[in-house]
Amino acid sequence: MKEKLEALKVEAVAKLQEVNDPQALNDLRVKYLGKKGELTEVLRGMGGLSAEERPVIGQVANEVRGAIEAIITEKQELFQQQETQQRLQAEKVDVTLPGRSLPQGGIHPLSRVVQEIEDIFIGMGYQVAEGPEVETDYFNFEALNLPKNHPARDMQDSFYLTDDLLMRTQTSPVQVRTMQAKNGEAPVKIICPGKVFRRDDDDATHSFQFHQIEGLVIGDNIRMSDLKGTLQQFVKEMFGPATGIRLRPSFFPFTEPSVEVDVSCFKCGGEGCRLCKHTGWLEILGAGMVHPNVLRMGGYDPEKYTGFAFGMGVERIAMLKYGIDDIRYFYTNDMGFVKQFKGI
Ligand code: DAH
Repeated sequence: MKEKLEALKVEAVAKLQEVNDPQALNDLRVKYLGKKGELTEVLRGMGGLSAEERPVIGQVANEVRGAIEAIITEKQELFQQQETQQRLQAEKVDVTLPGRSLPQGGIHPLSRVVQEIEDIFIGMGYQVAEGPEVETDYFNFEALNLPKNHPARDMQDSFYLTDDLLMRTQTSPVQVRTMQAKNGEAPVKIICPGKVFRRDDDDATHSFQFHQIEGLVIGDNIRMSDLKGTLQQFVKEMFGPATGIRLRPSFFPFTEPSVEVDVSCFKCGGEGCRLCKHTGWLEILGAGMVHPNVLRMGGYDPEKYTGFAFGMGVERIAMLKYGIDDIRYFYTNDMGFVKQFKGI
């Protein structure tokens, strides 16, 4: 029996040493050490041995098993290492290769201007408010002191969806929505950027859809001088510290008094150039003291509170600021146009 075991060891060791793949190794492991394996088979015969022989043979058997197991473990480790090596080779990444550059987008000039204006007003303590683009006649006109059949409605040719619903022609309705939501609570300090729609024929300076930013402040003792100071500060931050403003009397149904606000031409410094049509001034927004009727409809007592409001066109400001001469560039998605604003 001892010879049998020794022979088995020699055979197994020889075969195992030749093995060079994990599957064959496993087959051999089963062949020699498995439940029905050859070593197990030999050991089964140990029952017939004498008491003296048994420990001797037992020791030999353990030694044989140990030798076979040692080779198997060694081979397993070797295969493992080879596999890892192969994978490392196959999955090799050259970290020194230059990256593949993806086309990088930029912020649309209109969004950029909106963000810039928002930042300036947020810096002055304003909050950003929003309202729906489909508005009711009430919010878009009536609550802004423009009753039905009021001639000033013609100033803003509208897209009506039903008798009562229209695409908002201005961001001013958000004033009323904000006031009503605040339930008469003061102060109110908001700006509201958004799309507006008018039945205009598109040309270099008109578009049926454009953007406005509305502002509204309500509180104790808010005066025209507060409006003036606020806008003065705004234009300095927006167009440069040397920029001045000028107020001209105007009319809006929702403000009294109303003004048109011009900034000194930031291109020529007021000397007169093509941009300002040689006047030295650029008209950029409408503003005024909130009309008592508007305060009342918004739920504020005009005897107690006063306020100012303003509204500006984002496209116009962007066109002036970047020297763009056609409003349609903003909407035609010409990459050549949009790309120019990438790094600004
Ligand atoms: N909503 C006006 C327009 O679209 C702009 C405007 C003027 C808004 C004066 C105001 C304001 O809040 O006080 O022409």
